[in-house]
Amino acid sequence: MRILILGARGMLGQALALEFSHTGHEVIGWDRADLDITDRELVLEKINALSPRVIINAAAYNNIDKAETEDGKLAFQINAEAVWRLAEASARVGALFAHYSTDYVFHGDKVEGYSEADAPDPQSVYAKSKFEGEHRILSLRGENEVSDEAIPKQKHEIASLPMVARNDGEILKYYLIRTSRLFGTAGIGDGAKKGFVDVMLKLGREKKELDLVDEEVSSPTYVVDLARATRELIESGAPAGIYHRTNAGACTWYEWAKKIFELSKLNVKLNPVLADKFPRPAPRPKFSKLLNTKLPFLRSWEEALAEYLVTL
Ligand SMILES: NC(=O)c1ccc[n+]([C@@H]2O[C@H](COP(=O)([O-])OP(=O)(O)OC[C@H]3O[C@@H](n4cnc5c(N)ncnc54)[C@H](OP(=O)(O)O)[C@@H]3O)[C@@H](O)[C@H]2O)c1
Repeated sequence: MRILILGARGMLGQALALEFSHTGHEVIGWDRADLDITDRELVLEKINALSPRVIINAAAYNNIDKAETEDGKLAFQINAEAVWRLAEASARVGALFAHYSTDYVFHGDKVEGYSEADAPDPQSVYAKSKFEGEHRILSLRGENEVSDEAIPKQKHEIASLPMVARNDGEILKYYLIRTSRLFGTAGIGDGAKKGFVDVMLKLGREKKELDLVDEEVSSPTYVVDLARATRELIESGAPAGIYHRTNAGACTWYEWAKKIFELSKLNVKLNPVLADKFPRPAPRPKFSKLLNTKLPFLRSWEEALAEYLVTL
């Protein structure tokens, strides 16, 4: 199957390219230099010329604090408007559109976690931009598609959107995959930054003692596992809709770091602290574990982390 991966030089994008090419698919990987996804005309032109069967969007604006202070507009351009164009381009060429969103679309006060059916309530600019991307896909979906999802009820006003004019053939089939706390080999694009595991390993080699936030419970997710889960979802032909895909289990940042140091045999004294010890511009959810209610959870985050660490 011809698969177009956008954001192919990002952390998840690289894992997706490997997963699909190793399983016999024809993979075309584009990043910002190949196609800036905010360029509407070029998006429609290039995707039309390529005519892939599946379009997977792993491109995103991911700088949570910078979105809050200075890049809010850019975050919305990349995470919402561009997503809508990609969905539109997918519908026009009849491609399945797979896109990723985040646990941060939820408020974060539900200790037991959030299912696919729970109503989002994003708190930060980044989270609102990702939520608007979700909303735009759901606004565009094909009326004939099988989906048990209602457009999520929102507590925030979302600008009403003109619907894309659809001919009979222009129906969007989509998978909206929410995930959390990705780890794996860092992206190689210009904007790439190290993930939490790599940052901890560096700090662990440099320092004897660290303060870590013992709050904000969510599920670390290995990009290799998420890429495989994405391929399996696409190949399964499951109904279009929202899917939560994360490694099983959840932890605070402190608990995650503790496991990283234990598995890497780094002797660092860790002090659990409250989040307000490190004030950050954007609010984070306190509890944002994603419940995978439609499909089984992936293996535990601890097992996946152990596997990632041996690849380093
Ligand atoms: N990382 C997490 O913990 C996490 C958690 C929950 C959900 N997610 C979601 O998972 C998906 C993958 O995240 P990730 O961490 O793999 O992202 P990433 O490593 O930051 O990669 C994103 C890629 O998108 C590219 N990109 C950005 N703007 C673009 C544009 N205008 N046109 C074309 N390409 C552009 C970037 O290129 P440059 O490097 O050149 O900017 C980069 O290669 C995203 O949807 C993200 O929101 C991530």
